[in-house]
Amino acid sequence: MTTRQLFVFDSPQQLSEKAAQGWIDQGNQAILDNGAFHIALSGGSTPKRLFKVMAQPTFAQQLEWSKIHIYFGDERCVPADHPDSNYKMAFDELLSHVPCPADNIHRMAGELDDPATAAHQYSQTLIDNVPLDAKAIPCFDLIFLGIGTDGHTASLFPESDALFEEHKLAVANYVEKLQSWRLTLTYPTINNAKKIIVLAEGEQKADLIHEIFTTDTHNYPIQKVIPKYGDLMWYVDKDAAKKMPN
Ligand code: 6PG
Repeated sequence: MTTRQLFVFDSPQQLSEKAAQGWIDQGNQAILDNGAFHIALSGGSTPKRLFKVMAQPTFAQQLEWSKIHIYFGDERCVPADHPDSNYKMAFDELLSHVPCPADNIHRMAGELDDPATAAHQYSQTLIDNVPLDAKAIPCFDLIFLGIGTDGHTASLFPESDALFEEHKLAVANYVEKLQSWRLTLTYPTINNAKKIIVLAEGEQKADLIHEIFTTDTHNYPIQKVIPKYGDLMWYVDKDAAKKMPN
């Protein structure tokens, strides 16, 4: 039975510390159960604070990084050292500060000239490294997601083709509003995770959070994140929850 829970925190710092503890708890359980932990990180700006928290020794030392495999929910079509790269942000803020083996860090090849080739390669990376269910779909232990003010998540943007992908594990997705290609996990992959944590901060997301949690609207890509077996948890700060009823 899947559950959807909304957790409201007083500040972005408290949210990030709780998210880091959730990462640690899920990670240690996966390592205990299966000898490894497979986690996909979100991009954008919100997770930067989480990565900084996780890089602190008091948090980082609670995990056996040699048994952790890091993936990405989406990536911009830029080189790994580009300021817009989700991988670069995670590397600078976290991965360069913890002893996660380089072979365990599976970034999307945003630098490739052909985004479709990069997406196909990533699908193969998932098959080669993430435990698969009986239908050969990767089963992440944990996926972090963000949410844009237009209700997108990962790089599943409104009115984009990737919203309708029901078989591929990762795709290249042209985003009209950005006039650019993105690489993204698809709903089949995301919804197969054991646990999904959506991180949302700031009052610019308050109307969206209110609409998603208090109305029957189903307009937004984030609302197709419905884990088949796992749990969906929203970690939001007070500002993002300010329009919610008490
Ligand atoms: C990206 C992200 C994207 C992000 C949202 C929220 O590559 O931009 O993966 O889905 O999570 O756009 O971004 P902020 O955290 O910056 O609000």
